[in-house]
Amino acid sequence: MSSYALELLDGSHNRAGFFSGLESVDRYLRETARGHLEKGISVTRVLVETNARTPKPVLGYFSLSCISIEAKEWPGAPKGLPRQAVSAVLLGRLAVAQSAQGRGIGSMLLATARQLARETIVRSGGVGLVADAANEEVVEFYAKYGFLRVTPKGLRMFLPTASLEGGMEISIK
Ligand SMILES: CC(C)(COP(=O)(O)OP(=O)(O)OC[C@H]1O[C@@H](n2cnc3c(N)ncnc32)[C@H](O)[C@@H]1OP(=O)(O)O)[C@@H](O)C(=O)NCCC(=O)NCCS
Repeated sequence: MSSYALELLDGSHNRAGFFSGLESVDRYLRETARGHLEKGISVTRVLVETNARTPKPVLGYFSLSCISIEAKEWPGAPKGLPRQAVSAVLLGRLAVAQSAQGRGIGSMLLATARQLARETIVRSGGVGLVADAANEEVVEFYAKYGFLRVTPKGLRMFLPTASLEGGMEISIK
């Protein structure tokens, strides 16, 4: 049975060989994620098999950053928020390699992102976890895990801090 490790993205990972089926998230990993990590713009973590040799194939990845949002009117946002911007954690990207999809890796990565977001919010404050779905299908993926649409037809999704507390049952098949 394989075992997996979640690592901070670095030069040992095969970014060029990652294909999720969604060009924008593949390009982000290939061209942007390392620079963003070095500059402190966002943090990308990748899932690899523990015994993988360099360049390690990337099974999946996600990126987190801290953002400011005006969430007063958002569904699920705490009552009485100020009109000004407040803090939240952004799940900027989440993707699984096409060859590894459908095995529970996406939900496992999402559960880990939730956990990291919760730790950030406990330490520094924040109203929840925000995710930008790439399309309607992905909206359904996030909705399955409690994310709410910010606007009726928009692709921005929100998981309020109170919902971050709930656990997710997950396993990799
Ligand atoms: C969306 C994505 C991350 C899901 O990863 P995955 O490892 O295949 O998902 P899992 O195996 O953990 O599936 C978890 C559940 O979500 C559902 N699901 C998977 N992909 C889905 C999708 N694209 N849309 C809706 N639901 C989806 C599965 O059916 C499963 O439901 P079940 O537990 O009822 O069977 C992956 O398909 C992917 O990387 N897609 C391309 C990139 C992308 O769209 N990223 C998201 C936006 S940045």
